[in-house]
Amino acid sequence: MVNVCVVGAAGGIGQSLALLLMRQLPHGSTLSLYDVVGAPGVAADLSHIDSGVTVKYAAGKIGVKRDPALAELAKGVDVFVIVAGVPRKPGMTRDDLFKINAGIILDLVLTCGSASPNAVFCVVTNPVNSTVAIAAQALKKLGVYNKNRLLGVSLLDGVRATRFINDARKPLHVNQVAVVGGHSDVTIVPLFSQLPGPLPPKSVLDPIVKRVQVAGTEVVKAKAGRGSATLSMAEAGARFALKVVEGLTGAANPLVYTYVDTDGKEETEFLAIPVVLGKNGIERRLPIGKMTDDEKKLFQEALPVIKKISKRVTPSPAPTCNG
Ligand code: LMR
Repeated sequence: MVNVCVVGAAGGIGQSLALLLMRQLPHGSTLSLYDVVGAPGVAADLSHIDSGVTVKYAAGKIGVKRDPALAELAKGVDVFVIVAGVPRKPGMTRDDLFKINAGIILDLVLTCGSASPNAVFCVVTNPVNSTVAIAAQALKKLGVYNKNRLLGVSLLDGVRATRFINDARKPLHVNQVAVVGGHSDVTIVPLFSQLPGPLPPKSVLDPIVKRVQVAGTEVVKAKAGRGSATLSMAEAGARFALKVVEGLTGAANPLVYTYVDTDGKEETEFLAIPVVLGKNGIERRLPIGKMTDDEKKLFQEALPVIKKISKRVTPSPAPTCNG
């Protein structure tokens, strides 16, 4: 059975994500929890839930690089879900987090990649458009990079797009809106035209598109200094990790939208595209599919931004803090 490791498990996203995984991972799985503060408590708490999932943990220490406790826990892990890092505050963009979070991701991926080089890495930590590229650099440095096993979690954009369009066109209901591009502002490109059924008029649809692009900021503002989306992000992260598990275990070959190495199939090195998951991580990268002229315009605006921010230089590894 699978071993899924939440890195940053005691933070705002991490705790909810761990709970959702505890309830939904296949019977017999292991949930491994790492954080620099609070991991033993979260592990003790979760381990009282009568699911068929075994809980393991490692307590890190603030300021320790290449943490030996994480290196030990990371052995035998199949899927890492990395949520550790600092969230934004009102007035900040996701990109403003690069300086601190990129170093954290680099350090964590170096540690986890050395212990379980064949694992699938799911990166939630912002700015996803850049941290996925940083994770790729770390895995390349270790000589274990596999472009089919590194996935940026941009699914929250799809979850939001789905919610907002379903609210607007009741009783029509869809399960998953395609969202491509990246995971920040103008790089988020929802493709509502790919949905079955009639769409609302442009005067209604355009504000929904905009809302999907700035939805993260909507939450940051509403939390007024107490972080960014944790609950909806945990929901998206858990759904995503469970799809990865379905693929790895051969239970299904789910289609997901994820920010990945495009393997030369798109104009940018990294991009959120539809992929089919399976026993090896990504089995197939699919074409983005049809777009309206408005969607094409948004997509063309997103590409240069993604090109620029996914090419940022490797920072120095930084010790972890919980997410
Ligand atoms: C989100 O989309 O809510 C997350 O990426 C967090 C953020 O800073 O917006």
